[in-house]
Amino acid sequence: MTTFNLQLKGDEEHISVLQLTDLHLFAEEAGTLLGVRTADSFKAVLEAVVNQSLHFDIVVVTGDISQDYSVSSYQRFAHAIAMLQKPVFFVPGNHDDGPLMYRILHNFGVHTERSLICNNWQFVFLNSEVYSVPHGWVERDQLNYLKACCDNHPELNTAVLVHHLPRLVRSNWLDTQTMHNQDEFNNFIAGFPNIKLVLSGHVHQEYDQVHDGIRYIATPSTSIQFEPLSHDFALDMQGPGWRYLRFDRNGGIDTQVFRLPSGRFIPDTGVGGY
Ligand SMILES: [Fe+2]
Repeated sequence: MTTFNLQLKGDEEHISVLQLTDLHLFAEEAGTLLGVRTADSFKAVLEAVVNQSLHFDIVVVTGDISQDYSVSSYQRFAHAIAMLQKPVFFVPGNHDDGPLMYRILHNFGVHTERSLICNNWQFVFLNSEVYSVPHGWVERDQLNYLKACCDNHPELNTAVLVHHLPRLVRSNWLDTQTMHNQDEFNNFIAGFPNIKLVLSGHVHQEYDQVHDGIRYIATPSTSIQFEPLSHDFALDMQGPGWRYLRFDRNGGIDTQVFRLPSGRFIPDTGVGGY
């Protein structure tokens, strides 16, 4: 079990986290996803984050760093994210090559530990990737790891990070790509009262709901956005986004989504899927 212990400087009451998700980077810097140059939108988000001057202790990236499984896309990510000068953690997404990204990102100083402990919170990073298909599945060994984390630290509040949001978003085409064993997953985590949050990506839209006492949050992509509540594939014209979260000592979570202004990265709406 690999766990990273993060000591905050001074006497900080909160852990502050920047979440980035669904970057969809390519081997080529000019690579486009539905007309959006994803390296450019990612860079624009990073610059906006720096200009915000928000304080955050760590960065979490909830999957789909790559769009093409390439070594260069991960190198591009690692070079760019270094400008934030904070510890970076991640989970794989359905567009990633899990084994490859762990190997490459580790060499660039990105954290590959499967859990992080800070103040009275622990963050557990799970893999929901099923190689080369869009839907997700959390294998038993991942659930067992989560159980071990919760059993070892019943005194800690726990946040689970996993690419596929284990909830339907009432968007028919996107819900076919959901975490397919979400009932098993949700029943499993219901057995651990210290689990307060599931933090995800994949749905390329804002989501924040409480189910059975657990908060489920997903976040806009740094590239293209999906139209909420759409029966068929459709793009949302809102700008690329990111999320800021603050975890307090009592188990409370404050969070806010930020976006670039719309109109700067305009996707091609004439396509029927991605
Ligand atoms: Fe994605």
